[in-house]
Amino acid sequence: MTPDNLQKKSLEILAKYDVKAEPLYIDAIQKISEEISRLDEGLITHILNVAKLAAHYAAENGTSIQKAIMAGLSHDMFRTSSKDKIFQYAKTADFQLTELFLRNPMLAHGPAAAGWLRLNIPHLDTHVFEAVRDHTFPDESSNIMTKILASADALEPSRAIDSRDKIRQAAMPFEERYIAVLKIKRGH
Ligand SMILES: [Fe+2]
Ligand SMILES: [Fe+2]
Repeated sequence: MTPDNLQKKSLEILAKYDVKAEPLYIDAIQKISEEISRLDEGLITHILNVAKLAAHYAAENGTSIQKAIMAGLSHDMFRTSSKDKIFQYAKTADFQLTELFLRNPMLAHGPAAAGWLRLNIPHLDTHVFEAVRDHTFPDESSNIMTKILASADALEPSRAIDSRDKIRQAAMPFEERYIAVLKIKRGH
């Protein structure tokens, strides 16, 4: 998908919420769109779905919809990148590459994306940085943006997993949905 198309789709998500896009947000979306346009279509579909669902959860929680979309768009930008690239950017996020990450570099794609955001987006919000960094391994004490991103990531519809679709579709408070997401991620 072209960067222009990605940017257009991202702004369309925001337009549904009657929120005016701030110049800083537009600039960030433009840079992120350029970076993720090289990804394959399947991953881009996932990313756009995550941004859409994250916007929905942000509205539900009264937190910034623009920041949730930014987090959703950027969270997997290095999901399929080389070990060298992942480690290079993860280090710029001051991320400690423990044994687990050295054995499986892909697991550090969140810290890598957070490092990229810190380098490329001026005035980056701390919660967006942490959300992107921690989206693969969130916990009970994570900030609300991390909870939003991790939930949207686990529950977005293109995954087409019946048990997850049920959690997304069920009526429940957000915190309860997040606890269900943590259970999925921890494999029970
Ligand atoms: Fe991810
Ligand atoms: Fe993801």
